[in-house]
Amino acid sequence: FGTLALWAVLGYLLGSIPFGLVLAKAMDLGDLRQIGSGNIGATNVLRTGSKKAAALTLLLDGAKGAAAVLLARWIVGEDAAQIAALFAFLGHCYPVWLNFRGGKGVATFLGILLALSWPVGLASCAAWLFTALLGRISSLAALVAAATSPLWMLVFGVTQALVLGGILTLLLFWRHSSNIARLKAGTEPRVGQK
Ligand code: G3P
Repeated sequence: FGTLALWAVLGYLLGSIPFGLVLAKAMDLGDLRQIGSGNIGATNVLRTGSKKAAALTLLLDGAKGAAAVLLARWIVGEDAAQIAALFAFLGHCYPVWLNFRGGKGVATFLGILLALSWPVGLASCAAWLFTALLGRISSLAALVAAATSPLWMLVFGVTQALVLGGILTLLLFWRHSSNIARLKAGTEPRVGQK
């Protein structure tokens, strides 16, 4: 149990690094929480006008999720990897450094999936891309990618990750409550729109 608890803490700490916020500050793009949706993720970084900062945020927020899984798996094993994944996601969404007001977890979720099982991760990224190209709404693409991820786990036989995948999907939907309300009302902005 001690080892798993340690990986919960390490995963949380990795996940809690708010790369979007740090990059936006470092690149003089302003305080993300005062811009657009106020979120600290790549989609909102894009609203500052910097594609480079948005791409870097996507990459780094994804990499921290993947790193948590890969490190825990390499040093301990699959159980620790799943715990590290869950807590990295929680760290991103509820970072202690930001009064527990973090992001929505999309990039971190995709990074985690890629590290858990790259075919599942790739299929979810493809679902994101397909929906994003079709509708040009980042949150909708994220919801489709998350909702379809258990299906990819079944397709690729990664059933040991189904419970974790289900929990992460529910959390991701929860973190998108305001987006879901805007989607229903037809007021969710498209990518490139203010
Ligand atoms: O990555 C989060 C995305 O799904 C929605 O972001 O800023 O439009 O609420 P945002």
